[in-house]
Amino acid sequence: MSGRDAMDHGVRLHDGRVFTVKAGETLLEAALRCGLRVPHNCRVGACATCRCKVVSGRARSLVDRAYALPQEELGNAVFLACQTLPLSDLVVDWTLQPGEPQLPPGDDPES
Ligand code: FES
Repeated sequence: MSGRDAMDHGVRLHDGRVFTVKAGETLLEAALRCGLRVPHNCRVGACATCRCKVVSGRARSLVDRAYALPQEELGNAVFLACQTLPLSDLVVDWTLQPGEPQLPPGDDPES
């Protein structure tokens, strides 16, 4: 097994919108697939542009977050979305870029 979760998980953002992370997808991959314009840059866990806070639920990082995040954020459930796999449904506080398309809660265009 590759270590990636074999289940889909729902993610609710801080503003109430929801999307589904398919099995094997990172948070960032799923958000972009669903049309959310979320902050990101390198996609390899180096720039920390995609950082978000997991408010509830369980997630696993594919990389050692200490390379990109300060110690206080590591202890405060901050993850790099491009390197994070949900292990359960999540509530995520993720500051999204202005002007993004509105996705009604529960509306996943890929499902
Ligand atoms: S996009 Fe650079 S760390 Fe995630």
